[in-house]
Amino acid sequence: MNKVALITGATRGIGKQIAITLAKQGFDIALNYRTENDSLNETVKEIESYGVRCLAVKGDISSFEDCENMTKQVIEKLERIDVLVNNAGITKDMLFIRMKPEDFNQVIDVNLIGTFNMTKNVSQYMIKQRSGRIINISSVVGIHGNAGQANYSASKAGIIGLTKSLAKELAGRNILVNAIAPGFIETDMTSVLKDEVKANIMNSIPLKREGKPEEVANVVKFLASEDSSYITGQVISVDGGMN
Ligand code: NAI
Repeated sequence: MNKVALITGATRGIGKQIAITLAKQGFDIALNYRTENDSLNETVKEIESYGVRCLAVKGDISSFEDCENMTKQVIEKLERIDVLVNNAGITKDMLFIRMKPEDFNQVIDVNLIGTFNMTKNVSQYMIKQRSGRIINISSVVGIHGNAGQANYSASKAGIIGLTKSLAKELAGRNILVNAIAPGFIETDMTSVLKDEVKANIMNSIPLKREGKPEEVANVVKFLASEDSSYITGQVISVDGGMN
């Protein structure tokens, strides 16, 4: 029986690439999406072309009930969950002075509470299995902060605290919990940035280029594999030397 990986926000960008990379490694894939679109069908087809099972589960990770339902569906159809990748995330960038409570709360609700909601539900099964890997996608700004991203940085720093605490609590159950802190990765999320902002960021990257979704997915592949069996509670930066 193949191992099963559940990836949130997996129909585009980094999440899609993680799903494809793990499918190539022989994982059956459960991919979470929020709204049906062409990219969903395309992603499912591509994953199935690697000869593994692919189950698409619809839900908003900021809803605990949706996360509970999605987890149940995956267990019912694919029987287990070996790897959870908390990837889905949003930005709502603006200077703090203009930030309204709802701008702050919305980003925390999806990025941090969403990570809690999925982890809370999935970890119950991992505890019963006495094995599992939880991989949380944080961000370089969760370590260093960033002007214009107080909400996002707080959510991503929160993910790091959650990761480190859970690593300590779940180690006894053979569940490893780690985070990845990507820098500037070429996706739809970053394509909306103004050229001037992009140029500024590029100047701060020693490797002088954007990262590719594959370069994040390859670290997920490592953290999901036996090669990382003695690593837990860590934050691995994938940022071209930015920090
Ligand atoms: P993206 O915007 O291309 O993809 C995000 C995915 O999350 C989308 O499929 C979206 O539908 C899904 N999503 C958003 N809210 C959701 C919700 N409430 N429930 C379920 N799904 C939801 O973004 P990208 O660039 O692929 O980012 C993936 C992750 O990597 C995010 O957590 C992001 O914060 C993080 N990251 C990205 C960086 C970058 O430079 N692109 C840098 C550092 C971190």
